[in-house]
Amino acid sequence: MKFFVDTANVNSIREAYSWGVVDGVTTNPTLISKEGRDFKETIVEICSVVDGPVSAEVVNLDAEGMVREAREIASWHKNIVIKIPMTKEGMRAAKTLKAEGIRTNITLIFSPNQALIAAKAGGMFLSVFVGRLDDIGAESMGVIRDTVDMIDTYGFDSEVIVASIRHPMHLVESMRAGAHIATIPFAVLDQMFKHPLTDIGIERFLADWAKVPKG
Ligand code: G3P
Repeated sequence: MKFFVDTANVNSIREAYSWGVVDGVTTNPTLISKEGRDFKETIVEICSVVDGPVSAEVVNLDAEGMVREAREIASWHKNIVIKIPMTKEGMRAAKTLKAEGIRTNITLIFSPNQALIAAKAGGMFLSVFVGRLDDIGAESMGVIRDTVDMIDTYGFDSEVIVASIRHPMHLVESMRAGAHIATIPFAVLDQMFKHPLTDIGIERFLADWAKVPKG
């Protein structure tokens, strides 16, 4: 499973990338706005840190506007993938962008039907928001399983991104569902490393090592 970091904070991205397990980055308008920095400057800096797909989202709602915006954003760096919302206009834009060789990440997917349409429109990544589905009491991991199966059954090139991850168990469930990618907030990625028995184990090894006679 590939790990993307779900943040626009360059310091967090730098740190997470240094751990050696990060394959890409996803951002969205909310995450960009949290940083209080210029959009282009932020995305270009992220691309200089991470050698992998970096998702940047368009904000136009009509297909022509999305395509115009996408062409501009994609011209900033070869790593950029354009995030497009799961709408009819978005799918029109995705199809045009695919024909131009611009990679897309179809975002705000909440059902297997939407995922199927996004795959047909040529989305390279299909972002299913599990946390927001959980928030409304829906069975989020069922959508991930169905989407993975749909891609396998029909041989689409798309990959599922589990997005809107809130806690480490989401990762365990994503792994069981066979998700291709998880985009993980920095704090959750940090939590994934931790287990009290690891800390206790290291402490015990060091204490015992101190008792070993050294020449
Ligand atoms: O990748 C999408 C993600 O950033 C949305 O997360 O927590 O706002 O639902 P959240």
